[in-house]
Amino acid sequence: MCGVVGYIGKNDAVPILINGLSKLEYRGYDSAGVAVFDEEQKKINLCKTKGRIQNLQDKLYMSPLKGKVGIGHTRWATHGVPSDRNAHPHFSDDSKIAVVHNGIIENYMSLKEELEEKGYNFISETDTETVAHLIDYYYKSGMDILDAVFKVLERIEGSYALGILCRDFPDRIIATRKDSPLVVGIGKNENFIASDMPAILNYTRDVYLIDDNEVAVLTADSIKILNSDKDEVEKKIFKVDWDIEAAEKSGYDHFMLKEIHEQPKVVRDNLNSRLTDEGVVLDNICLGKAELEKINRIYIVACGTAYYAGLVGKYLIERVVRIPVNSEFASEFRYKEPLIDDKTLMIVVSQSGETADTIAAMRLAKEKGARTFGIVNAVGSSIAREADDVLYTLAGPEIAVASTKAFTAQVVSMYLITCHIALELGKMTKDEFLKIKEHMELLPSLVNSILTKEPALKRFMHKYIGSKNVFYIGRGLDYVVSMEGSLKLKEIAYLHSEPYAAGELKHGPIALIEESTLVIGIVTQEELFDKTVSNIRECKARGAKVLAIAMEGNTEILKYADDVFYIPRTYWMLTPLLANIPQQLFAYYMALGLGNDVDKPRNLAKSVTVE
Ligand code: F6R
Repeated sequence: MCGVVGYIGKNDAVPILINGLSKLEYRGYDSAGVAVFDEEQKKINLCKTKGRIQNLQDKLYMSPLKGKVGIGHTRWATHGVPSDRNAHPHFSDDSKIAVVHNGIIENYMSLKEELEEKGYNFISETDTETVAHLIDYYYKSGMDILDAVFKVLERIEGSYALGILCRDFPDRIIATRKDSPLVVGIGKNENFIASDMPAILNYTRDVYLIDDNEVAVLTADSIKILNSDKDEVEKKIFKVDWDIEAAEKSGYDHFMLKEIHEQPKVVRDNLNSRLTDEGVVLDNICLGKAELEKINRIYIVACGTAYYAGLVGKYLIERVVRIPVNSEFASEFRYKEPLIDDKTLMIVVSQSGETADTIAAMRLAKEKGARTFGIVNAVGSSIAREADDVLYTLAGPEIAVASTKAFTAQVVSMYLITCHIALELGKMTKDEFLKIKEHMELLPSLVNSILTKEPALKRFMHKYIGSKNVFYIGRGLDYVVSMEGSLKLKEIAYLHSEPYAAGELKHGPIALIEESTLVIGIVTQEELFDKTVSNIRECKARGAKVLAIAMEGNTEILKYADDVFYIPRTYWMLTPLLANIPQQLFAYYMALGLGNDVDKPRNLAKSVTVE
């Protein structure tokens, strides 16, 4: 969740570190800091502060740091409140070792006690400081610095991406990872470390993807990567092929708005090479009739928004293919003693490919013999590398913390997988598929037409901004859409909202409905329309205001809702993708209207790499 960056080369490190951190700020933004080796003073200097990167820049402006080797960090607090003291980098006692860390050292309490007994003083409340002291301890007890790092890796438990400087070795950065992302950027007479590619894309597109337990030693003109046996490993250079523009705002006020507007292209990119008249081509994945017939159980496992995309998949596969699908929160999956064997297909959905719970669930399934299938956006991420098969969602980098285009791309993947399985298992005829394909190919222009109605959502914001509570209700696929809509409103508008299966309202929550309640009724599933409308009327009768999302041509809904947003008519399967777009824009404008930081909502981080 935190962002880690490092630079070693011939240039001034601070501007490069700050540039990298500003690209990583989506990973955490409650404090930031840099440590730079000053050649003249022969020491490592530190500058860190609570707050955003801008606060760090202001501080650096007052007291500049100079040097050509440095590490930096942007934090999402886990141990200790956001404060100057808890901000990274952390020093060992006599400032010999400086460390930045993403992840959690689970056994830090016992290590801390041990180090305190040895006389080490702890300044912060963080788990990370233990690592700095522990490296220092082993180094001072006579080990080579690299051996000291390896020794510490044996002692610490948990997850980490670490960037390490040692005052005695001003010409190197040491970096390592376990269960937290880390890449090494390869430059000319300069090298980099980063927790995510955007941090270094301005400088290089060639990276090494560091694997768990590997240790990288960087100098300005060399990179050595060692495995846990300290043997040097040959790694393939990974070429980042996205456009740097993809990680910029390109004139939009916020990344979220830009990403919402990218959705027609995202849908097109996901369909283009995969829809053929013969069927669905799932890249290089070999999941044909023979493989599918061996499968008797499907799990779709993910967190948050990705979980809701998975839920769309569950509803579709069950309805179209008629096989049971369990859709599970990754954070709960492991604790249910799930029934997994070699006849299980486990689909994991993740934008970042680094979500700790999703990775853990996937590893458990793998261990028990399941075939694992990742639907992943971040190329080269842990899930992409570890899953047996990967279908990339081709959404490009998603920077706003609230997921929009990645969800849309994940839902497209669910459409593709459903059609693929149904065709292979003879549960869908070629004619049926061709009809759905025709509708799918229209999706990019239908999304576009929804985006042209953006001003309506701004108007609804003005009308409903005073709502105290918001219920999102629907049945069937509309219920799934309501979950995603409600999550988006919570996370960026900080408004209490709940998704509810429309029919369940009267079993309790209707007691909460009053005049200041807004009910967003999603009614795109025509066979469920009458039933959901009765629930909408029950809410209206108790004073709630109702904003409905319905398919074009449905004039009946105008009798019951205060406002209606119409989405274009489409095939029933495809409505979740379209119905969600106005929800994204509504949440966006509500957040703006309430004066919130849309791209960096409080308490959140983009990539949840802790459990
Ligand atoms: C919400 C959101 C989160 C993520 C969740 C999983 O807008 O972005 O709920 O969907 O943290 O993240 P990934 O998809 O990276 O595994």
